[in-house]
Amino acid sequence: MKPKSNKKPGKPLVLRFVTSNPHKVEEAQNILKGYGIKLIQKDVNCDEIRAEDVSQVAYACAMLVSKKFKGNFVLEDSGLFVKALNGFPGVYSKVAYGKIGTGGILRLMRGCSDRSAQFRCSVALMLGGRMRVITGICNGTITHAAKGKGGFGYDPVFKPHGSKKTFAEDLVYKSRVSHRSRAFRVLGRLLAKKR
Ligand code: IMP
Repeated sequence: MKPKSNKKPGKPLVLRFVTSNPHKVEEAQNILKGYGIKLIQKDVNCDEIRAEDVSQVAYACAMLVSKKFKGNFVLEDSGLFVKALNGFPGVYSKVAYGKIGTGGILRLMRGCSDRSAQFRCSVALMLGGRMRVITGICNGTITHAAKGKGGFGYDPVFKPHGSKKTFAEDLVYKSRVSHRSRAFRVLGRLLAKKR
């Protein structure tokens, strides 16, 4: 999928990406390079924040980071929301992955015929002291077994709508339709308009 607007001035816009997850940086950078934006990873801890949705977590985390860091930055919060588990692991996705992993999600879903799930990614942009939160969503299903070696986190058990493969089996498709790619594409267009 090509970016709709691709204004590339000589110098890229450099933005800090506040995260400890290099996979997120790689995926976001692949999208944003088409918009003339260069990301530099910056690690600032905001693990203590909990809220109902990833958009609230991203907002609260960005507010906290803005107190410690005065420059422009982006950060994102993402998670997997499984319908049959009432949205679990959701905002607890990172912790749940560490504790029970993809195997644990598959065990919790034994006997569930409704395998619907959604990945959500909310990106908070702090630019010139103003904040904007953008959310990207990708709908799909949880598989019955883990498949594929690519990507990270729950990629081996998530099959997006429109594909027969999990994210971990088809990273090219992931880069086109994922929650993160959708959110960062909107961000790229927004920043391209401002330049
Ligand atoms: P957080 O945004 O740092 O709170 O982490 C969200 C967690 O959700 C990650 O640690 C992963 O386990 C999971 N997650 C978020 N995005 C993805 C993705 O694109 N693929 C697979 N797992 C993801």
